[in-house]
Amino acid sequence: MGIICVTVTGFPVIKITYMPHYYSLGKIPKKRHIQFRKDDGTLYAEQLVSTEGFSDLYSNTYHNFPPTAIKNIGKEWSVKPDIAVDNNMQHRSFQGFQAPKTEDYLESRIPVLVNNDCYISLAAPTKSMTTYFFKNTMATEMIFVHEGSGVLHTMYGELPFRQGDHLIIPMSTTYQLEFADENNRLFIVESFSHMRFPKRYTNDQGQLLEHSPFCERDIRKPERLNPKDEKGDFKILIKKNDYIFPYTYANHPFDVVGWDGYLYPYAFSIYDFEPITGRIHQPPPVHQTWEARNFVTCAFVPRLYDYHPQAIPAPYNHANVESDEVLYYVEGDFMSRKHVERGMITLHPIGIPHGPHPGAVEKSIGKLETKEYAVMVDTFKPLHITRQALEFEDKDYYKSWID
Ligand SMILES: [Fe+2]
Repeated sequence: MGIICVTVTGFPVIKITYMPHYYSLGKIPKKRHIQFRKDDGTLYAEQLVSTEGFSDLYSNTYHNFPPTAIKNIGKEWSVKPDIAVDNNMQHRSFQGFQAPKTEDYLESRIPVLVNNDCYISLAAPTKSMTTYFFKNTMATEMIFVHEGSGVLHTMYGELPFRQGDHLIIPMSTTYQLEFADENNRLFIVESFSHMRFPKRYTNDQGQLLEHSPFCERDIRKPERLNPKDEKGDFKILIKKNDYIFPYTYANHPFDVVGWDGYLYPYAFSIYDFEPITGRIHQPPPVHQTWEARNFVTCAFVPRLYDYHPQAIPAPYNHANVESDEVLYYVEGDFMSRKHVERGMITLHPIGIPHGPHPGAVEKSIGKLETKEYAVMVDTFKPLHITRQALEFEDKDYYKSWID
């Protein structure tokens, strides 16, 4: 399909946006909401995908067939997290790589820490999604690819992914994950609000500023449209409020011949995050990647340590006031902690200070750099712990600060 360049005209955008910018793939008509016909003279079906009703980011998509042709709705089933610890007041550690490998993608997703703003899950799917599509109507999903590679398929096109990528899938985006092989480890955050770049890193037009640790060139957008022209039975498993509703549609969901707008899935690699460093220890917000309602995410990457002659590279003890702190360990050595393994999750909850393990502060002095990679989720409301998470918990972790 050829690409038609569309000039954006009219009044400047005055609403502040913190998302990737205008993008277009495939063929689109010269204006919105006008006749757009196929070679046989019939009309393409236009769909507006807009957020906050008609008030925030949106894209316009053009389908071979209407996206509304429902054939059947099956009986829904619950995927509600099974909460074992509602009111957590203990430092916790979980061996995330003990999450079992499971063929099916949706079955592989194990919620571990949840609250009303986000669900944090682990998944180790071994098979690509081939028999169904998935849509999460209430959550934008951030899928951090710890291990694995493949292609994220949506109606917006194909988005290849690889180890280290964060995939951001806006809420209500139907998708399929195609994996290159069976070795996949995913750390997933379901955000019940839109995930945006930190406001302080953008100007009023939404462009990433010079001091941001990443810029638009680091954001990988869907690359290629492969519009389907198929009718049949297409199963879309639609998640809404902890239930999966199995829908069967008459038209292939990825039948878009062109689209444009600001709303689409994208990828950002942890390997493209440029760390911010200083003469003395920099606070966690310098590692921030996204913000959402009542939580933020961060990426810790290899970086040079602080260069004040008396600097202490290890972090200071800190009181968790209004923040449950979740760290997912990806790669490398962690100078502040003992016994760190890949895929480990720590939870340091609101109300209990935490800090470097014994000996870590002295040991860090004079060190020049760290090779660590980690993803952090800080929630401003307490997280609940699921029954499955307790199955791979290190039960004595809370005592690990004793010499
Ligand atoms: Fe911390």
